[in-house]
Amino acid sequence: GNYAASLMPGAQAKAEGFADCIYLDPLTHRKIEEVGSANFFAITGDGKFITPRSESVLPGVTRMSLMELARDRLNLEVVEGDVFIDQLDQFVEAGACGTAAVITPIGGIQYGEKLHVFHSLTDVGPVTRKLYEELTGIQTGDKPAPEGWIVKV
Ligand SMILES: Cc1ncc(COP(=O)(O)O)c(C=O)c1O
Repeated sequence: GNYAASLMPGAQAKAEGFADCIYLDPLTHRKIEEVGSANFFAITGDGKFITPRSESVLPGVTRMSLMELARDRLNLEVVEGDVFIDQLDQFVEAGACGTAAVITPIGGIQYGEKLHVFHSLTDVGPVTRKLYEELTGIQTGDKPAPEGWIVKV
């Protein structure tokens, strides 16, 4: 159901030159829930890793992994909470994360007439880059994995 409902707005967004859609909460339409078929995270100006908490957000394994890496390897405070679409100016970086998306930096979000640019529309922010290096380094075996992450099959 989630994927089916995303096809039309995704096509409309792409036709207007956007990479994807941001999904807001169904009750108030004010809080960010997901980005297309990936989870959302953002980094605040004072160095917090923020990701939406909601019963309708898919609790993705990539998101969970990033929460742990942000806390334990980047020493960031991790907050799961409301991420209001009209308060994007508190974020200096943002990204989409998931098995397919890995970590895809979000350059900016257009909401109504306003385009909020995070770090840059073309460059990856430093925290997003570090998280990407940690996550993919663990996946390729170049960085040690946290306890319990790797299971021999
Ligand atoms: C709706 C939705 N949100 C988030 C994700 C990311 O989850 P994961 O990190 O487990 O791949 C997916 C992945 O398919 C998804 O379909």
